[in-house]
Amino acid sequence: MLYDFRSFVNPGAYAFGKGTFNHLGELVERRHENSDSWTVFIVDDYFKGKSLIERLPKKDNDLLIWIDTVDEPKTTLVNQYRDEILAHNTKLPSVIVGIGGGTTMDYAKSVGLMVTNPGDSAEYQGLDLIKNKGIYTICIPTISGTGAEVSMTAVLSGPEKKLGIKCDYTIPNEIIFDPELLATVPDEQRFYTGMDCYIHNIESLSGTWVSTLGQVFAEKSVELCREVFLDSNLSRIDADEKLMAASLTGGNSITYSQVGVCHALSYGLSHVLGVHHGVGNCVAFNQLEEYYPEGYKEFKKMQEVQGVAIPTGITANCTEEQFDQMVETAWALEHMWDNAFGKEWRNHITKAKIKELFRRM
Ligand SMILES: [Fe+2]
Repeated sequence: MLYDFRSFVNPGAYAFGKGTFNHLGELVERRHENSDSWTVFIVDDYFKGKSLIERLPKKDNDLLIWIDTVDEPKTTLVNQYRDEILAHNTKLPSVIVGIGGGTTMDYAKSVGLMVTNPGDSAEYQGLDLIKNKGIYTICIPTISGTGAEVSMTAVLSGPEKKLGIKCDYTIPNEIIFDPELLATVPDEQRFYTGMDCYIHNIESLSGTWVSTLGQVFAEKSVELCREVFLDSNLSRIDADEKLMAASLTGGNSITYSQVGVCHALSYGLSHVLGVHHGVGNCVAFNQLEEYYPEGYKEFKKMQEVQGVAIPTGITANCTEEQFDQMVETAWALEHMWDNAFGKEWRNHITKAKIKELFRRM
């Protein structure tokens, strides 16, 4: 087990429901102690020129940082955004607001920590390496499924590894769940990210680390995923509200258990080929019928109902060196293999088998 004992932290406050984004200004004000208190908004650049930006409670002394989400979050950019914040004002900000998907929220979470912890963010990739708590962080998901809004991990690609900054302080302090913000997410992207959530639950439920609490969260989340992706009678806004709840409960399910084979392989794809996490999970899960037969069957059904194609042939032009790198990235995620197969996981999976799975993708 990764933890001998741990009392898990959850976000301190949630606002849930249609229109809750309208209250962001009030929530930010509550954290401002003085007239010169200020806020950093870290926002997915998809929203450039969109009406959401006019609704931000941004004042003259606040800072807005746009996030390009083409690549997964990088330690170098976390350092750069931290430097930008420190140069903006001699006083530290009171609040960091992250608005976007998993990538943007992971930037908000890690930048909030790096403002109060010196050095290179790559030095903090791992468990409990952060010394000081960060800036009060409010996360506002605009696409749902990653569970980044509730997780204790901010996943980063560093010079050597793809690994999260993971500790109690990484948990956002507050979340605004407003399903109206999901209205413009394209169907394919919504599906890939939604499947990240579905796969969290399948890996959690079938893992050796599953606890009763992890199971409770995962079972409810799977039920919600079924409603969202198999029930064609649901309106989009109602489905999105359920998807937000599924993301939250699915995220909690892996806090109280762990992910498995699919996530280990998906990390390899994104670290070496830059494949987005949700897409990488779908590409990997598409080859994992032997490990997750029931989940695989349902995943294919959801894919059919939603009319979304899973990319194939993405490793077709990979070199042997790239395959080896992907295998090593996946192999290093021991906690995921341990959850999937138990302590004796090396008796159940080999590097050759992992390479063969990557070749099929
Ligand atoms: Fe995930």
